[in-house]
Amino acid sequence: MAFPTETVYGLGGDARERAAIDRIFIAKGRPADHPLIVHIASAALLEDWATDIPNAALRLADAFWPGPLTMILRRNAKVLDAVTGGQDTIGLRVPSHPVAQALLRAFGDGIAAPSANRFGHVSPTTAAHVLAELSDSVDLILDGGACEVGIESTIVDLSSRHPRILRPGHLGRDAVETVLGVGLDDDVGDAPRVSGALASHYAPRTPVRLLETSSLERLWREESKVRRIGVIALETRDDRGVDWRGLSADPTAYAKALYAQLRALDERKLDLILIELPPPTRVWEAVRDRLTRAAGRG
Ligand code: TXA
Ligand code: MG
Repeated sequence: MAFPTETVYGLGGDARERAAIDRIFIAKGRPADHPLIVHIASAALLEDWATDIPNAALRLADAFWPGPLTMILRRNAKVLDAVTGGQDTIGLRVPSHPVAQALLRAFGDGIAAPSANRFGHVSPTTAAHVLAELSDSVDLILDGGACEVGIESTIVDLSSRHPRILRPGHLGRDAVETVLGVGLDDDVGDAPRVSGALASHYAPRTPVRLLETSSLERLWREESKVRRIGVIALETRDDRGVDWRGLSADPTAYAKALYAQLRALDERKLDLILIELPPPTRVWEAVRDRLTRAAGRG
């Protein structure tokens, strides 16, 4: 069943049930060696899934759960190989969305859930997005409205000596570092497999090109003469027509709107989507990461 979380909608199944896990992989068209995140109701259930849990993980759980943080920990022996893609680690997350919380509490155990989209495509942030993409393969969609955060959780790997961020998210690097009291490694070179780390991911079907603010206007004018162009810019300009979408100059509001706007432009069957790159600062790290992957040049 698909359900809302504060980040994006998930495609959930009983994490202890092999048949449910298999159906998730088939519905997504996802390679079997890409691990799933297991969602739990609270940190009290950590030991049902993980072992050798470092103190740092407990501190992060305390500070940020429930919320948009996924932790990679050493898995325990009871965890199905199908969930972890055969790796000796597991991704765990306690979502804060009230519907996700109610579901997890009623269920009482872990729910494995990737984002509820086809492999490599844009994650869904409304129930309608899930319905449009996966209606044939889900039994039920819980509609909890539009997701508050809008991009996927921050993934912090705590399974080896040096904590590191595998996927930036709404929960920023600074906040994580403050709680850990150490700087984070961001070298993902030998990291475990993360499908979100593939160059082309979170991508619409229409080609995407990223641009600095200074060249956006000129390129849009030139290209619009010969092709159907969509634009995702930081700010709105009402005189530019429906294919020019201004999101926000605030990273939180921008992230919340991004995937819905990408999907909306994708439906307009344009030749190209131009995206204005937000500044290369830490507050924009997660958004820039997703934009780079949407453009397929991660
Ligand atoms: O916000 C989110 O995290 C959403 C909602 C539904 O919770 N879920 C989500 O799941 O984004 P998914 O499967 O689309 O992305 C999870 C990422 C994948 O790139 C996966 O490879 C990585 O987490 N992952 C899961 N378990 C892992 C592990 N043991 N080691 C390294 N990466 C892992
Ligand atoms: Mg995903």
